[in-house]
Amino acid sequence: MKYDKWLSKIVGKDVYNLEVNDWIDKQKLEKSLLCVKVDVEFPGLWFQLGFDYITTELTFERHPKILAQLHEMEEPLPEYHEQILALAETGFSEDRFHKDKNISDPIANKIKKEWIRNYLNNKRGETLLVSVDNKGIVRGFLAPMVVNKIAIIDLVAVHEDFRQQGIGLGLVRTFMTRYNNCRGYRVGTQITNIPSIRMYEKCGFRMTSAKHVFHKHIGG
Ligand SMILES: CC(C)(COP(=O)(O)OP(=O)(O)OC[C@H]1O[C@@H](n2cnc3c(N)ncnc32)[C@H](O)[C@@H]1OP(=O)(O)O)[C@@H](O)C(=O)NCCC(=O)NCCS
Repeated sequence: MKYDKWLSKIVGKDVYNLEVNDWIDKQKLEKSLLCVKVDVEFPGLWFQLGFDYITTELTFERHPKILAQLHEMEEPLPEYHEQILALAETGFSEDRFHKDKNISDPIANKIKKEWIRNYLNNKRGETLLVSVDNKGIVRGFLAPMVVNKIAIIDLVAVHEDFRQQGIGLGLVRTFMTRYNNCRGYRVGTQITNIPSIRMYEKCGFRMTSAKHVFHKHIGG
């Protein structure tokens, strides 16, 4: 059972990420949130243990065979930070925090905002790829990280006003170009997130795994 200090601070309870064989001693737990991601074949046990089904996370991967086209993008200059944080705060709805009815929207929004703040403060990931229009309006961002020579899209969002205009595709293609010396690309999304699934498929990503996500809140 792994304690997530960063998430616990935002959610206001102790957050633990479980492995399938972890032993849970409920008596010892204070106000907490237990999270587990499991193979889709065996969900029954978790219902019996009182966990709620939250979503199914899909992983998509792609080999960096083709050099993608470079789109016009900028690094996150300080004058864009507030817009980037506002987009992170309001841009997501399908992730496991927004889907958990026991986590309020303000807290779920804050998780995404603080997640991206860590990118701006160089505490997480590589850089932040940002799409800005010629009036200085932030249209979208993509947060990349590299783990074991796999380039991962940690988060990506396009402002509602600019969706379905190819900005997301541009960000993903820029990401692929920048990290085309890695062993491969990877991204996680949710089964309900059709726009993102279509975007990744269009960029040549293919689904490689699926995991159900369960949460259990203890002590309110
Ligand atoms: C996912 C997201 C980044 C896509 O950005 P976008 O700029 O709107 O995407 P694009 O315009 O580049 O579209 C890419 C492809 O996805 C498809 N697509 C995008 N939005 C779609 C929608 N609402 N419904 C169906 N297909 C959609 C389009 O088919 C498009 O392919 P096309 O060129 O053949 O039409 C955007 O919807 C978003 O910010 N969502 C909220 C944040 C989020 O969920 N991020 C993903 C986290 S993993």
